[in-house]
Amino acid sequence: MKRLGKGGTLASRQALVHSLVHIESWAVDLSWDIIARFGSDLTYSLPREFFDDFVTVAEDECRHHELLKNRLEDIGSHYGAFAAHEALWDSAMATADSLPARLAVEHAVHEARGLDVMPLTIHKFRSNGDEQTAQLLEDVVYKEEITHCAAGVRWLSYLYHLAHNSQPEGSGTGSSEADSAVRSPEGSIPDWMAEARRHSGVETWFHELVKTHFRGSLKPPFNVEARAQAGFGPEWYMPLAMLPKFAATAKTLQQEFVGMQLQQTDAVATGATA
Ligand SMILES: [Fe+2]
Ligand SMILES: [Fe+2]
Repeated sequence: MKRLGKGGTLASRQALVHSLVHIESWAVDLSWDIIARFGSDLTYSLPREFFDDFVTVAEDECRHHELLKNRLEDIGSHYGAFAAHEALWDSAMATADSLPARLAVEHAVHEARGLDVMPLTIHKFRSNGDEQTAQLLEDVVYKEEITHCAAGVRWLSYLYHLAHNSQPEGSGTGSSEADSAVRSPEGSIPDWMAEARRHSGVETWFHELVKTHFRGSLKPPFNVEARAQAGFGPEWYMPLAMLPKFAATAKTLQQEFVGMQLQQTDAVATGATA
């Protein structure tokens, strides 16, 4: 797989835009998947607003995909020209049986990570003279991604309050009739609801969902401002964060590993053998 680099060359800018186009492609699929997969599950008592939110997200992701695909072609490449990772789909598979897990991992982990790295990505394009891509990311993609992250937080909170028969703060999506609506004929409640009820706050439920359905820690630094706009504060993500000391060690190990890979690649390219 080609490395993304720092955006200093045309090839590395193409690789960066290509990775974004691919992410947006998965984002389109995931927006419809959350509706198709979980929308008819009556245990979640999903109101009309849930469907409205994710149709809007799907529309946004389609626009992002098209705009970035066109931009990729403008700078001399095309979708499919580079290899791409499938982390979003791996997480989709890992959360295929649970709406709370899907909301937590795809929207409040992966999309939130996108908010963390977006300012640096925009800076890379701008500092390398690609103002058009920088503006596209800054004016369209970044702002709308905040609302997608917010949808994840909002609907995870809704499910938490549904499980606890309480009202989300500042929300008209009440759940006073939730218990009777989701009880099976035998009177038991669904597993996800039982799990939610073990927690005295949505944040600790989020921590459990992420630890169960996502491998690894969350990487600082966090975009505190954008995350706050999306509706979640440090109490959500800091307990899942990799401590700076360990993050530094992990980064050093990663750099050494990449260095070893490059040496091996050079050796192959120059015909050298070990
Ligand atoms: Fe997007
Ligand atoms: Fe998104």
